[in-house]
Amino acid sequence: MAQDTLTIIDNRTQQTYTLPIENGAIRAMDLRQIKTGPDDFGLMTYDPAFMNTASCRSSITFIDGERGILRYRGYPIEALAAQCTFLEVAYLLLFGELPTEAELTRWASEIAHHTVLHTAIEKFMEGFRYNAHPMGMLVSTVAALSSVYPEANDIHDPENRLHQIVRLIAKAPSIAAIAYRHSKGFPCVHPDSELGYTENFMSMLWKMAEPKYVANPVLARALDTLFILHADHEQNCSANAMRSVGSAHTDPYLTTAAAAAALAGPLHGGANEAVLQMLDEIGAKQNVPAYVKKVKAGHGKLMGFGHRVYKNYDPRAKIIKQTAEQVFEVTGRNAKLDIALELERIALEDDYFIKRKLYPNVDFYSGIIYQAMGFTPKMFTVLFAIPRVAGWLAQWQEMLNDPEQKIARPRQIWTGPEVREFAPLNKRASAASSRET
Ligand code: ACO
Repeated sequence: MAQDTLTIIDNRTQQTYTLPIENGAIRAMDLRQIKTGPDDFGLMTYDPAFMNTASCRSSITFIDGERGILRYRGYPIEALAAQCTFLEVAYLLLFGELPTEAELTRWASEIAHHTVLHTAIEKFMEGFRYNAHPMGMLVSTVAALSSVYPEANDIHDPENRLHQIVRLIAKAPSIAAIAYRHSKGFPCVHPDSELGYTENFMSMLWKMAEPKYVANPVLARALDTLFILHADHEQNCSANAMRSVGSAHTDPYLTTAAAAAALAGPLHGGANEAVLQMLDEIGAKQNVPAYVKKVKAGHGKLMGFGHRVYKNYDPRAKIIKQTAEQVFEVTGRNAKLDIALELERIALEDDYFIKRKLYPNVDFYSGIIYQAMGFTPKMFTVLFAIPRVAGWLAQWQEMLNDPEQKIARPRQIWTGPEVREFAPLNKRASAASSRET
């Protein structure tokens, strides 16, 4: 018998089945032949939250959660963060190779060319309430781009697809900057194509009456590094949303909006905002032990701690911690850092967190840097979303080019009643008890 196989005995029928194992996995569809009789649907796997199910083959991002390793297209995140710009990394994620000098120049110029937003989109954004959450603004506006570029729905034409990819990467910072300025009551600043991707974003955020905005190079580099660290992360909740919605052949604007909506949740990208709320709630270093005790007693979570895949220190958090020091030399130290360091120290020595392998994740220190740079916590998840657009689109392209992929459509295990007799309105019992569930 071939070694790379799995033999299963169905104790219901005493039948034996031999299934191939490939890349450490069996195909769930191979289980369907396991039946108790001709009317049996066949065996399924039950895996709520995809705890142990690979939904695709991918060559974009590699994570070894036990060893704290993260690589894009085979390159360690540490090397990319130290030596690349975000646009180089976006190119790597999308095309599989780092760009040559000529390719990078062309790529950067294409992106710069598409940073301008259609006036319809600027007007659309003006309509948001003064206190609208910038993530809500980003999600809705990215979706609204679909109305400006209807040709985007031809997702089968690779050239057309690339055009929309360039537009999305180029326009994400422009939308984010307007969302920020809207909350401050400032008019929008148009892009400056002489500036790099991140410097231009900073100009659109913070330029006031000066003729040209000049970004502090340390802060610009730090933000670009944060963009690199957030660019992709394998099959996380929002990448899965991107693939799932994209599998219906929805256009890339609506699909990216769906992914951004997934990112907004506090268990995912929204955690960076929640970390700052938590640090505010703790208030001072001496209150940390009491807060940790409360969490251990089941009251809330340590936001910015824990990860579905990393059971070791998140390698991105390590780089962010170093970046924080460089930023604080320019901005002055964020007092929240001391609370965060104390929280990390206490948690990493505590049995509760050790036993559950809970370490700081990417969101634990990023908010402290963003705040020191002058961002309000509401903007933090938007800052995560800007670079992640590149990762989502790389995942989307890979999904569309994969001949094995079809519309994503999980199965369910039915827990409702068997067929029931219909009751006319005047014969129905009160539904009050069922509404409570
Ligand atoms: N604080 C305290 N306890 C925690 C935390 C935390 N942050 N995270 C997990 N736990 C505990 C759980 O209560 C559970 O304990 P139990 O075994 O006694 O029931 C155990 O650790 C396992 O946790 P799960 O919830 O099963 O882990 P899961 O993989 O489903 O969740 C998640 C991962 C959502 C990231 C979780 O750790 C969490 O909520 N963290 C806080 C939010 C956060 O920082 N999210 C950002 C993640 S990174 C990103 O998306 C960019």
